[in-house]
Amino acid sequence: MKIQDIDAYQIYDSRGFPTLEVEVTLENGVKGYGLVPSGASTGQFEALELRDGDKEVFRGKSVFKAIDNVKTKIANTLKGVSVFEQEKIDSTMIALDGTKNKSNLGANAVLGVSMAVANAAANAMGIPLYEYLGKGEGHVIPLNEIQILGGGAHAAWATDIQDYLVIAIGAKTYEETLEMTHNIYHAAGEVMKARGKCVGIADEGGWWPDYETNEEPFDVFLEAVEKAGYEAGKDVAISLDIAASDLFDGEKYKFRLDNKEFTPEEFCDLMIAWCEKYPIISIEDPFADTDFDSWKRFMDVCGDKVQVIGDDLFTTNIERIKEGIANNLANSVLIKLNQIGSVTETIQAIKLTQSAGWLPVVSARSGETEDAFISHLAVATNAGQLKVGSFARSERMVKWNENIRIQRSLGEKATFIGGKIYDQILTKELAEAK
Ligand code: PGA
Ligand code: ZN
Repeated sequence: MKIQDIDAYQIYDSRGFPTLEVEVTLENGVKGYGLVPSGASTGQFEALELRDGDKEVFRGKSVFKAIDNVKTKIANTLKGVSVFEQEKIDSTMIALDGTKNKSNLGANAVLGVSMAVANAAANAMGIPLYEYLGKGEGHVIPLNEIQILGGGAHAAWATDIQDYLVIAIGAKTYEETLEMTHNIYHAAGEVMKARGKCVGIADEGGWWPDYETNEEPFDVFLEAVEKAGYEAGKDVAISLDIAASDLFDGEKYKFRLDNKEFTPEEFCDLMIAWCEKYPIISIEDPFADTDFDSWKRFMDVCGDKVQVIGDDLFTTNIERIKEGIANNLANSVLIKLNQIGSVTETIQAIKLTQSAGWLPVVSARSGETEDAFISHLAVATNAGQLKVGSFARSERMVKWNENIRIQRSLGEKATFIGGKIYDQILTKELAEAK
């Protein structure tokens, strides 16, 4: 089935910023769409998101150049190609771009087409996207990592730590993870409001906190878990995204909130201490994307009791993931489609992560759309974990809800591994407590 036309136009993401939607039309009239997300705490090694940068137009945020690249250069090259050749289509766009970070065409342009092609192919076959992407092998409904409080670049630095999240490690079913998260999210909101510590809702739907230190939110978390009737460390555990590249100036890590500075050694000690003091099962970007020594030291101490996720560290980039595996920098990789800019490379990054015995965590961006591509991607690849932000706002809920639908569609074939997924990488403490 051949691609007949590729069109693109500007739509708006969950922060109200411009992004692009791509429409692929096949020769039989079937269509597929690609909606491109956008990060705020982006890593320096990410593929380039092409924005027009003219301050007079959409405050510099418009994406008309990327749209034009889709409608001209990319469309002219891909018209007439079979929609089922995803790998060939993606590698053709990569070659057409000719740069390492997709800066000619824009990673947003390339990814929009890549996602639209996959959707059009699944639609042409009349099968769900997860089935098409996974070639019928996908069956694992992912464990959710859900934000309770949002800070960092997503809440005007209300806390220096970007995400305080919950993982329902004791849930027996996907529905139970949602029920537990629902109860804890709302209990946390009540606890914070009662103490006058909640200002509103942050970019990813978590509560926007008002605290004096970065450690105070742990108490809210623990109180909310108890209030909701669960046991921390057994039923649910804490997950953190430190997004530490944003805290590092090349020499020191800085907490603006507590007005504290740390050498890399001191910051590593603090991360280790937090993992010992609190029921933390997962920690993302505890160090900057250049501070390999701290990653190594942290892995030596905590690598068998905490999931250590590289986000800005790896930027879903196969070369960087390989380097991380060779140097034992982490044991898990955050997977974001628009960090690398094509569906094929994203799936390759997931497979590489899995082949090393590490865990992939498929993730949304802080600027999202009403699309649920990543829910399908997580199931298609049996990634086992999904991180989408919080338990509010429809650009988040659409992803959680889509997995309810995918589970129904899989029927008997659907599998839920839950917290047991960590048995693969963890041997100590929380892993044992489960
Ligand atoms: P971002 O945040 O989409 O703003 O980069 C998400 C994350 O850091 O995981
Ligand atoms: Zn992150």
